Amino acid sequence: MLTSEQIASIENSPYKADFPLLAKHPEIVFMDSAATAQRPEAVLAAERTFYETMNANPLRGLYRLSVEATASIEEARKHIAELIGAVDDAGKPQGSEIVFTRNASESLNLVAHTLPQAVELGPGDDVVISIMEHHSNIIPWQQVCKATGANLVYLRLDDDYTITQDEIEAKIGPAAKIVSVTQVSNVLGVENDIPAIAARAHEMGAAMVVDGAQSVPHIAVDVRKLGCDLLAFSAHKMGGPMGIGVLWGKAELLDAMPPFLTGGEMIDSVTETGAVWAPVPQKFEAGTQDAAGSFAFDAAIGYLKGLGMEAIEQRERLLATYLTDQLDALDFVHVIGPTDGTRHVGAVAFNVEGIHPHDVASILDMSDICIRAGHHCAQPLLAYLGESSTCRASIAFYNDKSDIDALVEGLKGVWQVFNGS
Ligand code: ALA
Repeated sequence: MLTSEQIASIENSPYKADFPLLAKHPEIVFMDSAATAQRPEAVLAAERTFYETMNANPLRGLYRLSVEATASIEEARKHIAELIGAVDDAGKPQGSEIVFTRNASESLNLVAHTLPQAVELGPGDDVVISIMEHHSNIIPWQQVCKATGANLVYLRLDDDYTITQDEIEAKIGPAAKIVSVTQVSNVLGVENDIPAIAARAHEMGAAMVVDGAQSVPHIAVDVRKLGCDLLAFSAHKMGGPMGIGVLWGKAELLDAMPPFLTGGEMIDSVTETGAVWAPVPQKFEAGTQDAAGSFAFDAAIGYLKGLGMEAIEQRERLLATYLTDQLDALDFVHVIGPTDGTRHVGAVAFNVEGIHPHDVASILDMSDICIRAGHHCAQPLLAYLGESSTCRASIAFYNDKSDIDALVEGLKGVWQVFNGS
């Protein structure tokens, strides 16, 4: 339960004005930021600035425009490294540990295609993931296990939606070579204890991969504190453009991993019979990179840093708590996940008694309320929870109390459509 001061602090959003879509369409209640966030004006302007002032193919040209385009990519890497605490002991950001991909899914596929070789994964070894993974952190590992003869092991949740220390110790044993777990569930919004999982993985000699798609946009993430070896996330969930994502990795591990995609720009030299790879991160970046995308992503990071990740986290915790409390107070709504709102990062899943989630979302859409309904690309989790489909409302810092109140009124309307009172 929030205090009246806390509720007053989320009454309005000073941020909606920065987001052209929200500013131009105040009627839209956008509660699907876990799928993709809205973009601030600064990001839209940056994409245009790139093409208007520095458009040239990065890395290839020796002329000023190309050099500027290349420099902008390196600046973005540096700022991303700073954001996630990828710094050396002197605090210097390690931009070379930032690999650009298309999105978090591609980052995880890159890892699944290359890490097994670096850790010599083979028959009888374990790859440990959790039951709350997005399909992007399940299917690549299913494929890896089929190809190598390794076992796919699932960490499961207890009744409190927690992966307990007992479960961590039971499932991550001496056979574990790779552990890959999401920091925050895209369905339940709960945060896993990554430092504990990473500590156990390392104790057993396994590499620790983290899916940060739902955490990096919402909370202050520090790879050194998490203790992970690799971290994947997407720009579009944090106000950046669609089509660009990140894989961060410890330099020595990225060095040991073979390339994923091959072709232009990822080599030092090529002969008729072979090639010498470029150093990381170029080794993983074949072909023309989305320099406009990384420039605009850099603008998104600048915007988030201007607000401060701690301030974002604090505001979103209040919003998530208010949202969970309001949903839990409706006797025809069943929250799927903790009813303690402070445990939700961004997302809250729920169902309306007797009404299919697709119907709920479609009726809400008639009032311009945007939520996601379905399996959320996490079918094993839904099956484990005994559900086939849920509604999911997800917030970002630009939401306010009025959005949540509108959702609650909308849900009362949905109930009335089917039940008449
Ligand atoms: N992974 C995104 C979501 O959870 C698309 O909605």
